[in-house]
Amino acid sequence: MKMKVEVKPASGKLGVLVVGVGGAVSTTFLVGTLAVRKGLATPIGSITQLATMRLGKRNENNFPKIKDIVPLATLDDIVFGGWDIFPEDVYAAAKHAEVLTDKDLEGVKDELIAIKPMKAAFDQNFVKRLNGTHVKEAATRWELMEQVREDIRNFKAQNNCDRVVVIWAASTEIYLPLADEHQTLEGFRKAMKENNVEQIAPSMCYAYAAIAEGAPFIMGAPNLCVDMPAMWEFSKEMNVPICGKDFKTGQTMLKTVLAPMLKTRMLGLDGWFSTNILGNRDGEVLDDPDSFKTKEVSKLSVIDTILQPELYPELYKNIYHKVRINYYPPRKDNKEGWDNIDLVGWMGYPMQLKVDFLCRDSILAAPLCLDLVLFADLALRCNFSGIQSWLSFYFKSPMHDFEHVPEHDLFIQYIKLKNTLRTIIGEETLDYID
Ligand SMILES: NC(=O)c1ccc[n+]([C@@H]2O[C@H](COP(=O)([O-])OP(=O)(O)OC[C@H]3O[C@@H](n4cnc5c(N)ncnc54)[C@H](O)[C@@H]3O)[C@@H](O)[C@H]2O)c1
Repeated sequence: MKMKVEVKPASGKLGVLVVGVGGAVSTTFLVGTLAVRKGLATPIGSITQLATMRLGKRNENNFPKIKDIVPLATLDDIVFGGWDIFPEDVYAAAKHAEVLTDKDLEGVKDELIAIKPMKAAFDQNFVKRLNGTHVKEAATRWELMEQVREDIRNFKAQNNCDRVVVIWAASTEIYLPLADEHQTLEGFRKAMKENNVEQIAPSMCYAYAAIAEGAPFIMGAPNLCVDMPAMWEFSKEMNVPICGKDFKTGQTMLKTVLAPMLKTRMLGLDGWFSTNILGNRDGEVLDDPDSFKTKEVSKLSVIDTILQPELYPELYKNIYHKVRINYYPPRKDNKEGWDNIDLVGWMGYPMQLKVDFLCRDSILAAPLCLDLVLFADLALRCNFSGIQSWLSFYFKSPMHDFEHVPEHDLFIQYIKLKNTLRTIIGEETLDYID
């Protein structure tokens, strides 16, 4: 298949507004991007900055970098801003997060000090473990959303931005199942105006405001937020791309590589036990059972979709899948994730596989943030709207409407992403038959 998409040029400045801009992931993303821009760091983990894409046949040996052939905004064009419930500038927040060394912060200190969070749309009932002071006052959720819209407009004007992208890297809100209020745009607007504080989370106010302002919205946490028919409808109506949910960084990334391996070799699975210790603020928030429930649902969704027990009952009928996150302060952002996998081989003989990933949560998440804002901006300029399933590669719970099944396999997701880029630039998509 060969077609070319009409892409508006990436001219002018790109505003990147981060919800939770003082958090560990956000500050690591900002510091790294600014450092790379100054030539002080290497963007390791970023597809937009480092990955290549083959052009022509394999024997032509032509592998240019994606950023050299796909019309992405450059790092020099990015202007950062955002919201947080704490007023510290991004330099102070990054110090507080203790992810990066002082040496890395010093290189971009002036730029970081200049980024001061705007007041947040926040309601403690949705994040019980946090108590913020830097928050907006509003009589209704509708008014709260209007204030966020005004922030976006002001930021755009003050910084002379051509376009804005909004990314949620704020705390995980409590679990909220899909309710009647989320089904239609009309019902959703009514609930906002009637100040239904049970069904309208603060995250939804940001998402609605972004879409209303024509800004793509990226959902990095597992909250319901933009993952509902009302928002799908709104984003289509406004011609704005949306994507989510929950950055796929450590344990789940491994799961979406290992589970396809078992299935490809027709190996069985009895159980998969995953546990984590984590000591940052995210770990503290997830220590609250209501916030953990949101994360748990997101983390559990992966295995069944990949293994398809309905097709292979003899292999995957009774899988025991458990996920735990334990708040353990001494480790700070340096999460340790253990997986115990009870697999089954020829004639039913049991085997075990153990994975111990001593990772760094924000170091894994930061490059995803960079790629997502650049790709979401590209999607906007390509006139793509609604759910961007080609960005599923980056998410634990890829958003999908009721007619589609999400794709979890990391490598299938990657092919989908690259084939979309190939289509955008008018290259043949790859089927790997040659
Ligand atoms: N690091 C990873 O690997 C990873 C992977 C998947 C998802 N996530 C999600 O990303 C999010 C950020 O993680 P983190 O480690 O940076 O957490 P963090 O606690 O360090 O940062 C979250 C920030 O959001 C702010 N905040 C909370 N509610 C807000 C609101 N309504 N408006 C504005 N700001 C608000 C907090 O004050 C805090 O500064 C979490 O939801 C986490 O679950 C992280």
